[in-house]
Amino acid sequence: SHSPIKASSSSPSTSSILESQNFSIKMVPTKPYDGQKTGTSGLRKKVKVFMQENYLANWIQALFNSLPTEDYVNGVLVLGGDGRYFNKEAAQTIIKIAAANGVAKILVGQDGILSTPAVSAVIRKRKASFCISFPANGGFIMSASHNPGGPDYDWGIKFNYSSGQPAPESITDKIYGNTLSISEIKMATIPDVDLSCVGVTKFGNFVVEVVDPVADYMELLESVFDFQLIRSLLSRSDFRFTFDAMHAVTGAYAKPIFVEKLGASPESITNGVPLEDFGHGHPDPNLTYAKDLVDIMYGENGPDFGAASDGDGDRNMILGRSFFVTPSDSVAIIAANALEAIPYFRDGIKGLARSMPTSGALDRVAEKLKLPFFEVPTGWKFFGNLMDSGKLSICGEESFGTGSDHIREKDGIWAVLAWMSIIAYRNKETKSGERLVSVSDVVKEYWATYGRNFFSRYDYEECESEGANKMVDHLRDLISKSREGDRYGEYVLRFADDFSYTDPVDGSVASKQGVHFVFTDGSRIIFRLSGTGSAGATIRVYIEQFEPDASKHDLDAQIALKPLIDLALSISKLKDFTGREKPTVIT
Ligand code: G6P
Ligand code: ZN
Repeated sequence: SHSPIKASSSSPSTSSILESQNFSIKMVPTKPYDGQKTGTSGLRKKVKVFMQENYLANWIQALFNSLPTEDYVNGVLVLGGDGRYFNKEAAQTIIKIAAANGVAKILVGQDGILSTPAVSAVIRKRKASFCISFPANGGFIMSASHNPGGPDYDWGIKFNYSSGQPAPESITDKIYGNTLSISEIKMATIPDVDLSCVGVTKFGNFVVEVVDPVADYMELLESVFDFQLIRSLLSRSDFRFTFDAMHAVTGAYAKPIFVEKLGASPESITNGVPLEDFGHGHPDPNLTYAKDLVDIMYGENGPDFGAASDGDGDRNMILGRSFFVTPSDSVAIIAANALEAIPYFRDGIKGLARSMPTSGALDRVAEKLKLPFFEVPTGWKFFGNLMDSGKLSICGEESFGTGSDHIREKDGIWAVLAWMSIIAYRNKETKSGERLVSVSDVVKEYWATYGRNFFSRYDYEECESEGANKMVDHLRDLISKSREGDRYGEYVLRFADDFSYTDPVDGSVASKQGVHFVFTDGSRIIFRLSGTGSAGATIRVYIEQFEPDASKHDLDAQIALKPLIDLALSISKLKDFTGREKPTVIT
């Protein structure tokens, strides 16, 4: 790790300016490109779009044009990514534009690698330990998250702000505005920087420091969890663990953390080498795209615990033997067990939060533990203010995101360690040879205590935008006419609206965040258009029903939810508007 003294010795000093050569700044004329508006999580397009002449450079320059100069001039920015195709070239472009705009230092992960949670951790750490004139002011993440990579697939860029959180909409809107009028890009005339070795390169006042992508992040995780407790679980012969890195960024983290630090066997990590095209995979840890892992976990004599993470390491999927933990339950169960099993929460949990489409399981935990609770729109950026103002400790989304205020991003490896901590804690008293308290035992006990929120999501990927928009118009029309007490088959409406959120910290309003129908028994049907696709429109339908009766908890979610699913399809006229008979993905 880097102490402030070492860091400042690698920062520009008068003598180093004299020693090293300076660089000149080239003003590159450019024209705006259409459509550089960021979605739920950064700017995502096909690689070919980003490879157009100044496409990426325009967006990066527009970003600098949008930030107050005191946010970056003489400041430090972090740069990393998930290792996908085009990252290496993009990193060099970003470094050159940053240098020309007056950034003092770029801290970049070796080979351009840093997971999304690691970028957040590095920004926060460097912010705390640097002297005032050299805080880490933010960072770039080169990733299209869980979207496939390679020349024919997706690329993306996200910018995180000074406390490590995704840039707020006020900033991303400004960037978009500037992309529409940009006419010039500032580029430093410096050679490409070798990112393959840890070390410092100086160009006049500008410094590029290549750092180990794992060190800061691992140090943080060690302060959050009881690694000894997790080691004791992994050392048991009756606990078998498997982690699928999906050839994505957590490949770089799994071995140092799970194997070298925590003692898991090397064979427990599969697809553990990050590849530019993720091995032709779709690095999204869900029941469809992480099929290899699912087959292992549901196969004969499967492991006791399985997990996977996505392209950039912020999502997670948790499985027990022949058992899937739905993300909405996962965050609720972590929250219910955190005080005991995770040292970071020993002094108390400040509050809990979930995104609107996420099931209401967490609400029940908040109620029981008497904790402040928040429902925010889809998108991790909405949790940041709550965390910064000390109102929120643990949060999650149905979209396989779970995390806490140890950083300002969701964190796949954190979620895996949280679950391992819970299983380890519950097995402190069981001896090897006795039956292990399993993942499914923990979930079923939780259902018995709190009731079960059956939940499912149907995704209709890459629909024609026109049909999808018409469907949303139709739904908005329907909610404008609906009244409390309306009957929908067996269900009685409590309310229907287009979700809108007022941030309790800064008062900003996010409207049109998803159409939801909420019924008197707590059941909900929700429709949203995805904000993370790169082509066409992806429709998401979320269905939830609460079941207090424990004798019904073992039902398959698809069976339990069938009547509500049918209702959702009929009120939305989804088939008519899209021509789709079946969803692409069911979770
Ligand atoms: C990203 C964000 C999440 C969000 C998800 C939803 O992963 O980081 O916070 O929940 O996208 O994406 P969607 O495709 O539903 O807009
Ligand atoms: Zn991701």
